[in-house]
Amino acid sequence: MAKLLYVESSPRKERSYSIAVAREFLKAYKGVHPHDSVETLDLWTLELPEFSGDAINAKYKIMHGEPHTAGEAEAWNKVVDVFERFKSADKYLFSIPMWNFGIPYKLKHFIDIINQPGLSFTFSPESGYKGLLSGRSAVVIYSRGGEYLSGPAAAMDFQKTYFERLLGFIGITDVKSIVIEPTLSGPELVKKAKKDAMETACRFAAGF
Ligand SMILES: Cc1cc2nc3c(=O)[nH]c(=O)nc-3n(C[C@H](O)[C@H](O)[C@H](O)COP(=O)(O)O)c2cc1C
Repeated sequence: MAKLLYVESSPRKERSYSIAVAREFLKAYKGVHPHDSVETLDLWTLELPEFSGDAINAKYKIMHGEPHTAGEAEAWNKVVDVFERFKSADKYLFSIPMWNFGIPYKLKHFIDIINQPGLSFTFSPESGYKGLLSGRSAVVIYSRGGEYLSGPAAAMDFQKTYFERLLGFIGITDVKSIVIEPTLSGPELVKKAKKDAMETACRFAAGF
């Protein structure tokens, strides 16, 4: 029995295109894998620790092999708790809207918590960086108001490009993506984009 973790990063809920596609994916996935467990992390209700002061010192001290103070250890334990929850999954589903050519700040906060030396990656001068979450797979749904898959705006896509690099950095390289765009277009184009994304979601869920 596998565990699928769904990380949701749009606050628009019933109006959200990325969530609509994710819900279609999950419906199909549960049909194919009725015994798998599915956990949802809604980044708009999840309370994340701040990543400042003690937590940052704790991170650098791990990189430099130095001991933590009591305050740093306490801050670091909160980081580890969030990371362990993330790491507990075998498979991931992410739904991500484009915000200002990148990702919503709640997702960036989550990444700043979970992407840590000794947890999600290691570094050595001899072999460089190595992701520690290998063996896991992910499906990522990206929604955006404009068109970035081709055309002049493609160079402005710091959403899909960034997130795929990030997953690769932490060792998750078995990644499939679904793009729904342009969601801020006319109704006919949007309807077709949603239908195509829903179909892809069902297809990916069947083989995930
Ligand atoms: C704060 C904010 C910033 C946005 N920035 C962009 C952008 O840079 N490029 C774009 O094409 N759409 C942008 N959009 C539009 C969203 O990407 C679009 O509405 C998408 O459907 C949002 O995903 P959702 O429907 O799952 O919430 C932005 C929307 C918001 C709320």
